[in-house]
Amino acid sequence: MKALITSGGKGTRLQPITHTENKHLIPIANKPILHYAIEAVAEAGITEVGIVVNADNDAVQKAIGDGSRWGVNITYIPQEAPLGLAHVVKISQDFIGGEPFIFYLGDNMVVGGVKRFIQRFQEDGCNCHLTLARVPDPSRFGVPELKGDRIVSIEEKPRRPKSQFAVAGIYIYDHHIFEAVNAIRPSGRGELEISDAHQYLLDHGYVVTYSEITGWWKDTGKPDDLLEANRLVLENLSPRVEGEVDSRSTLAGKVILEKGARVENSHIRGPAIIGSGTVIRDSYIGPYTSIDRDCLVEASEVEFSIIMAGCRIQQVGIRIESSILANDVEIVRARNKPRTHRFILGRSSRLEIV
Ligand code: DAU
Repeated sequence: MKALITSGGKGTRLQPITHTENKHLIPIANKPILHYAIEAVAEAGITEVGIVVNADNDAVQKAIGDGSRWGVNITYIPQEAPLGLAHVVKISQDFIGGEPFIFYLGDNMVVGGVKRFIQRFQEDGCNCHLTLARVPDPSRFGVPELKGDRIVSIEEKPRRPKSQFAVAGIYIYDHHIFEAVNAIRPSGRGELEISDAHQYLLDHGYVVTYSEITGWWKDTGKPDDLLEANRLVLENLSPRVEGEVDSRSTLAGKVILEKGARVENSHIRGPAIIGSGTVIRDSYIGPYTSIDRDCLVEASEVEFSIIMAGCRIQQVGIRIESSILANDVEIVRARNKPRTHRFILGRSSRLEIV
């Protein structure tokens, strides 16, 4: 079995972060989202991994490399434009050949790995095995219609969903999926939809089975999804203190302090992770916060947030909460008179002030 992982698309719902960062490289608990997908397929024993990338950018290749650190071989498959998930499958046919494969959307995160789904695919002897997750807002997703324990139809982002389930971004196929992706036509929004390929399989008598994901699963398409995924991952990490903590500081709950991080006269209440080279001084870091490497947090409070590498937060009078800062962002108290707010913000930035 091979694996095909996506890392393309535009990530528009995560702007402005995605103006500069590929969404799959945004860190969750200080680790790029894409690492979780690669780890999951490597853990399932798969060694041949294709990653579909935007053809005009090599950020993913630079960040991920050849896969040797996970014990896998990575082949990069460029996609000229984000023409849909069925298009992703279509352009990967040469890489996959005739083998069954797992198609893993690189912005999805699931607890408990993917082995169990591969096993079900093999036991069922089916052509396609889908994973379903119960969600409060199915119309954001591919949605199945179920009769008994059978999927009878699948619609992409329906206005009136026929069930409470989303088709999650972890699919397992045999080679018949290529017949489907080569037969379907672009949807109204101009994409070759993976849901239409699934509908094709159903219409042509191929066997489509499913597993329900009962633990947590997240599609990290929106800022709140990233914060929630970060919360869930931090909750499941084991504490580890390899950095320095001075005698005036306290760490409570699950805290990971990477080697080279320093905490001075501060209080950290986990679950939280602080990256190497980061200094926390005279500050409070609250639960569900990830602060990546080489940041400075001074005389400030941060909680339930993702702070990427190289950020500087100094003397900010009000607690920063539910926030996502891209690399090298600065939030600092103005020293000059008159006391004014000064903003240098990129397109689609969002700032809430009190
Ligand atoms: O997350 C599950 C959902 O993923 C499913 O329920 C939907 O049926 C499926 O269509 C998909 O919907 P999204 O709207 O969330 O797809 P998105 O455009 O966010 O793309 C998903 C992943 O695929 C993401 O890693 C970006 C990548 N991608 C997307 C497209 C359209 C590509 O690499 N190339 C593409 O052409």
